Amino acid sequence: MSVHIAAKPGDIAETVLLPGDPLRAKFIAESFLQDAECYNNVRGMMGFTGVYKDQKISVQGSGMGMPSMAIYVNELITSYGVKKIIRVGSCGSLQEYVHPRDIIIAMSASTDSAMNATRLQPGAVFAPTASYALLEASVSAARTLDIPVHVGSIFSSDTFYHDDPDTWKLWQKYGLLGVEMEAAQLYSLGAKHGIDTLALLTVSDSLVTHKELSSEERQTGFHDMMRVALETIRPK
Ligand code: HPA
Repeated sequence: MSVHIAAKPGDIAETVLLPGDPLRAKFIAESFLQDAECYNNVRGMMGFTGVYKDQKISVQGSGMGMPSMAIYVNELITSYGVKKIIRVGSCGSLQEYVHPRDIIIAMSASTDSAMNATRLQPGAVFAPTASYALLEASVSAARTLDIPVHVGSIFSSDTFYHDDPDTWKLWQKYGLLGVEMEAAQLYSLGAKHGIDTLALLTVSDSLVTHKELSSEERQTGFHDMMRVALETIRPK
């Protein structure tokens, strides 16, 4: 096992879906995968491996925020040989035209995180970007399924409760579509280790209109995002 994942080599598939919430991981495994088995429950951060359309797929909770997510993603890549990771999460909308329940495919992720500060030479800033293969596959999957999506840039923040409640207005000005707390570091680790990464997000609330999803809308929005994710990784 690795430090935080109690799986044996071979227990985890090369393709992993990565929700923040471990209960979401359980729900995805039970609702979308066949013969799903739990391979990890260390700290309650459940992970499952099952089969989707004859392909072995895993689904692993990541926790909230980049430090937690990075622990799991590092171990998935370096201890278990994972090659493709798709975050399936939620975000807040930063634009009036991006509504709760909409789906965002995150092309790139700006961030206030310091985690990349030491990666390149001093003063250089890395640009965390989704892998093009997954980006293209997901856009094409959404088209095939006739599910509308926004494709663009997002912001990954280290902070949920900012001192200045208007901080997001600057991100809005730069055209960023939504704010969440993981994608920038997921993309950075993907680049560092040469694996494919992508973040698919359902909009759970709007920082602009203060609208939030009802629990029913949350379910249907989540379901559409999962259909896009599964069609993205389905062998063609
Ligand atoms: N901020 C950060 N992460 C989020 C938000 C938000 O407003 N909404 C959903 N995930």
